[in-house]
Amino acid sequence: MRIVLVGPPGAGKGTQAHLLAKTLSIPHISTGDLFRANIGQGTPLGLEAKGYMDAGRLVPDEVTIGMAKDRMLQSDAANGFLLDGFPRNLGQAKALDEFLAEQGIKLDGVLDLEVPEDEVVKRIAGRRLCRNNGSHVFHVAYNPPKAEGVCDECGGELFQRSDDTEEAVRVRLEEYHSKTEPIIGYYQDQGLLVTIPALGTVDEVTARAIEALKQDS
Ligand code: AP5
Ligand code: MG
Repeated sequence: MRIVLVGPPGAGKGTQAHLLAKTLSIPHISTGDLFRANIGQGTPLGLEAKGYMDAGRLVPDEVTIGMAKDRMLQSDAANGFLLDGFPRNLGQAKALDEFLAEQGIKLDGVLDLEVPEDEVVKRIAGRRLCRNNGSHVFHVAYNPPKAEGVCDECGGELFQRSDDTEEAVRVRLEEYHSKTEPIIGYYQDQGLLVTIPALGTVDEVTARAIEALKQDS
């Protein structure tokens, strides 16, 4: 299966992508996690992305599209993938369509996680991520780790993202409304969009997502 996850910052894309990818046996590809890994390793790509990310702005398409394509071409993605945070504007959505056409493959569905803005702000404020693996996501109140500051899955150290500040979150939400929301209509026109309410517990949302993807495929 080839799926795109869409939703505002803090909607739970990473949380759900990690669980769905395990269930569907396909890799979770997060452009945000790829950028953060590059920043951690101090690569030129990471250095370029960091300023945009910390400010809450989208990283330019020239950098992002090439990185996403390279990841989708890796062998573990040959039979499917779950894209989290890509595409994030119409230019990226069109570039993805061209890439898929070149490869002779298609998307199976686009899952849109709908969450009110006051809830995403609360989710982001308490988020903690694992240093070893950005897919391991916790929340101090809603989804707390068993031991404070330690990842349940691998024992890694938990940290708060540098773009989870009030100012950067405000910009990320603006970027989402102005640049990312238009792709929802784009995929609706292609008959690929499934929207689910993403309020409720993590497990409730996962169950809704699996049901929605079954009906869509
Ligand atoms: P990215 O890393 O993609 O961030 P984002 O889209 O802002 O989304 P988040 O990761 O903040 O939220 P999420 O939806 O994954 O929520 P999560 O599961 O963590 O991008 C970061 C930056 O990288 C961008 O701003 C941009 O600069 C750059 N970038 C990335 N992709 C790009 C692209 N394609 N083009 C250009 N630039 C790009 O959950 C949030 C919290 O809520 C967690 O604490 C979690 O435990 C909790 N939670 C999850 N589900 C629930 C639930 N059901 N109930 C209660 N709490 C929950
Ligand atoms: Mg995420």
